[in-house]
Amino acid sequence: MKTYEVKVLGTGMYAPKKILTNVDLESIVETDAQWIFERTGIQERHICSTEGGEFPTDMALNATLDALKAANLVPNDIDLILFGTCTPDVKLPNSASILQVKLGITNNCACLDIAAACSGFIYGFNMASAMIKTGMIKNALIVGSEMLSREVNWKDRNTCILFGDGCGVALIGRAEEGSESKIYSSVLNADGTGGEFFDQPIGGAVTPLTAEHIEAGAHYMQMKGKEMFKVATRTLAENAQKVITEAGLSLEDVDWVVPHQANIRIIETTAKLIGIGMDKMIVNIHKYGNTSAATVPIAFHEAIMDGRIKRGDVVLFDAFGAGLTAGATLLKY
Ligand code: UT7
Repeated sequence: MKTYEVKVLGTGMYAPKKILTNVDLESIVETDAQWIFERTGIQERHICSTEGGEFPTDMALNATLDALKAANLVPNDIDLILFGTCTPDVKLPNSASILQVKLGITNNCACLDIAAACSGFIYGFNMASAMIKTGMIKNALIVGSEMLSREVNWKDRNTCILFGDGCGVALIGRAEEGSESKIYSSVLNADGTGGEFFDQPIGGAVTPLTAEHIEAGAHYMQMKGKEMFKVATRTLAENAQKVITEAGLSLEDVDWVVPHQANIRIIETTAKLIGIGMDKMIVNIHKYGNTSAATVPIAFHEAIMDGRIKRGDVVLFDAFGAGLTAGATLLKY
């Protein structure tokens, strides 16, 4: 069977206009701006307008138009949309299908949402790469877009200080003849036994939402931060090592790591466990907080735009999230 190499053709991002700083949070919940910065690395986050124009598929539309321009493609070149989100515009139809219409795509491309929380972008990236490699599709749009501000409890300081809204996308497709771009290796995994460390059990088929739940604020996301922290660092390091080993490369071959941005201390600990310097870790958590599925594509896009990540660089994506899901990708950009 003929197989194809995969190339990142273009990237894009969208950050909502409204910025919420740590100091702003002091008047919303009992917290301390300095505590937030010291314990998480976050200084501010972006928050979507509730008036419209910045819902997850709106942000994805903006980001995708930039990615299309960078890739020199038109919307109908997209054969597949994989939309990583845990905060979709609506329950049905899926966000990928809504985005297909907003982009004006008329080729009936496949559309699927990926509910893998913070690992959603990497799940999509790895699944779409496999489809491109085998020739099943030519170009795929991978989205990570979240409006977490709708789903966090603004009275719970354990969670609301951590999250932000935003979107990042990547357009990937067949590498042209002679291109050095490729995916070396990828891994996806999950440990469902840790599901209760980060969940949102109210509002589904088992326990439909009631007025009492809303009154009590029981329907929001809830997280056991310490438990998540421990599994996150271990899993991120293990997956990074797995893809490097599988590729037959060494740590020195890796130019950049684009890790999930959940906590600067998680990123620092992971770097230490892998044995890589912080100068190779792409970090932007201070500006956006944790935007779940959007952290990796936003950080990737920013590092390309400011010239840190260049064509030919070896880049490692590494994410972890609720589920507990995780995934990593090692590629030559
Ligand atoms: O994207 C999915 C992956 N996300 C994660 O994996 C998140 C992982 N977890 C974390 O990032 C950290 O565990 C948190 C940032 C959530 C919490 O940091 P921590 O260092 O584990 O804090 P803690 O919960 O142990 O709390 C330390 C102290 C406590 O006070 P005492 O008991 O020592 O007096 C808390 O009450 O800090 C207090 N505290 C706060 N103070 C001000 C907890 N939250 C806050 C707050 N503002 N928001």
